[in-house]
Amino acid sequence: MSKSFYITTPIYYVNASPHIGHAYTTIVADVLARYHRMAGENTFFVTGTDEHGDKIAEAAQKSGVTPQEYADKISAQFRALCPELAITNDYFIRTTDADHIETVRYILQKVYDAGDIYFGSYGGHYCFGCERFLTEKEIVDGKCPDHGKEPQYIEEKNYFFKMSKYQNWLIDHIKNNPEFIRPERYKNEALAFLRDPLEDLCISRPKSRLKWGITLPFDENYVTYVWFDALINYVTALGYPNGEKFKKFWPVAEHLIAKDILKPHGIYWPTMLKSAGIEPYRHLNVHGYWNSDQSKMSKSLGNIVRPLDLKDKYGLDAFRYFLLRDMVFGLDSNFSEEAFVGRLNSDLANDLGNLVSRTITMAVKYCDGKVPEIDRKKKDTILYDAAQKAVSEVKASFRDMSLHKALIAIWEFINITNKYIVENEPWTLGKDPASKEKLTAIMYNLLAALRATAILLMPFMPQTAEKILRQIGVEQSESLNLAGIGVEDALTAGSPLIRGESLFPRITQEKDSNENSAKKVSTISLKPGIDYEEFAKVDLRVGKILAAEAVPKSNKLIKLKVDIGEERTIVAGIAKDYTPADLIGKKVVIVANLKPATLMGVESYGMLLATDTDNGLTVLSFDREPQTGAKVR
Ligand code: MSP
Repeated sequence: MSKSFYITTPIYYVNASPHIGHAYTTIVADVLARYHRMAGENTFFVTGTDEHGDKIAEAAQKSGVTPQEYADKISAQFRALCPELAITNDYFIRTTDADHIETVRYILQKVYDAGDIYFGSYGGHYCFGCERFLTEKEIVDGKCPDHGKEPQYIEEKNYFFKMSKYQNWLIDHIKNNPEFIRPERYKNEALAFLRDPLEDLCISRPKSRLKWGITLPFDENYVTYVWFDALINYVTALGYPNGEKFKKFWPVAEHLIAKDILKPHGIYWPTMLKSAGIEPYRHLNVHGYWNSDQSKMSKSLGNIVRPLDLKDKYGLDAFRYFLLRDMVFGLDSNFSEEAFVGRLNSDLANDLGNLVSRTITMAVKYCDGKVPEIDRKKKDTILYDAAQKAVSEVKASFRDMSLHKALIAIWEFINITNKYIVENEPWTLGKDPASKEKLTAIMYNLLAALRATAILLMPFMPQTAEKILRQIGVEQSESLNLAGIGVEDALTAGSPLIRGESLFPRITQEKDSNENSAKKVSTISLKPGIDYEEFAKVDLRVGKILAAEAVPKSNKLIKLKVDIGEERTIVAGIAKDYTPADLIGKKVVIVANLKPATLMGVESYGMLLATDTDNGLTVLSFDREPQTGAKVR
């Protein structure tokens, strides 16, 4: 029987629209789901919305609508975000779904019947942002550190869950299963919390104070506490207690959350499961927080980053790539649009986009537009070995949830492939008919490397992977997986190669007059970016043309004698647009440090710069008289 994989995201509160924090968790879950599906595992991926509780009731009241209407509206936004971000969730759960309400009541009754719920009185400091009572230790300077607000003192009669009863069991379970909560820093945080005696959990709200919730099965006058309701979504989605899915997927449940909700997931949920006679989930995977411009994202600071804005501006895969590459799983990360554009230009436009476009262009040129037949496999296995190395590193990264490391490994492979092109110089081999067989093998190896790159990228950047595969004639319907990556004859000879548009156009960043940085998407196809240092290697000079004559037997070339502070012979392909007499005395721009080349038997020591116009070429000249030999910067 094939393995199973169950992945969940938190179900998001419907009191505010989605931002990049929500998008990040959902995208990570999607990458995991796609990866496990690709490995042939039975996969179930659930996300959804958390719709009961004070927060929602309050937000609805402010908007002048019923809580249900309010929840419907915002839940629909979260649901609509999924296809926009290419999220492949199998199910979208809402806590207002009828089956969920039934499951919550079923579990409450079970826990009640087990004797783990009692009625009592409690006074405590309640944070409406967290939707829970805070302990004295959690309150900093009289405020909730997460929400920056003073908690409200509330005293009332309520139902309590005997969480304290399971404290020792939970400590043992965490210690005996070191990966139960991961990464380790969060396991340690949970254990630190468990060092103090665990208080029982208040799990009800009197209807006199809050009506928007699930009515307790054993007392009509109370609704369930929102966290007791919400956590249960993870088993409702599987059809607990009798669903087939529950049997298949619950034993392999992987929860994915950010550090803000470690306590409900790491403490409340396992003890609730224990009391209800349900096995604990397998892993709680905890990531850090996205901050924006070095601060916590908040409406009042006006620094909320909206996922759809970024997606629309830069493209979905660039957005997915940035989030996944930039955040070290478990640690906080700072979002800045500048860093995003930087990565887009370097990793996506330069490394990946450039690799794909030049490989396809060369393969179209040297292999008649088709995947070539290779009679004899070329002995070099550099790219196949590199692909295998990337595969094993990617597998290891998925095992320990460090997706950024998987992307680093894939980029190492991309860069080895780029280096392979530079070292093998297909353009030189292309000039020599005797090298045809070698050239064909090199082009085949490069196309196979593109196939490997696309498969490796599939979970992370599904649209890009598809575009690459289409260009090399691979059908998406073929079952593609990591196991088939290093296979040398994986490509079908004769499949058409289709040159596509640039995968990632470069973005130019400009400062506008207000000193705010504005980013502009480049609409022209530019060569990969270079640093100033690289540009400065080109020695450009003002040259004065002293003499000019046509090169015999050529209708294009003119031999020039140019003064650039010293005399040079330069051959220029401008005879169709200039007569020698036109040129004498002109001041022009010369690339002075180009290695000498022989053109139609004449040695040329430099190059003259020109551009096309509708009426032919024009050489670059000046509108003020420069010094001969002056540097052009
Ligand atoms: N409704 C509860 C979760 C119940 S799960 C049984 C909740 N909702 S939430 O809308 O506040 O979502 C919190 C989650 O959204 C975080 O755990 C994380 O997955 C994601 N993020 C929200 N803001 C985030 C950042 N700034 N950075 C990273 N992820 C964050 O809590």
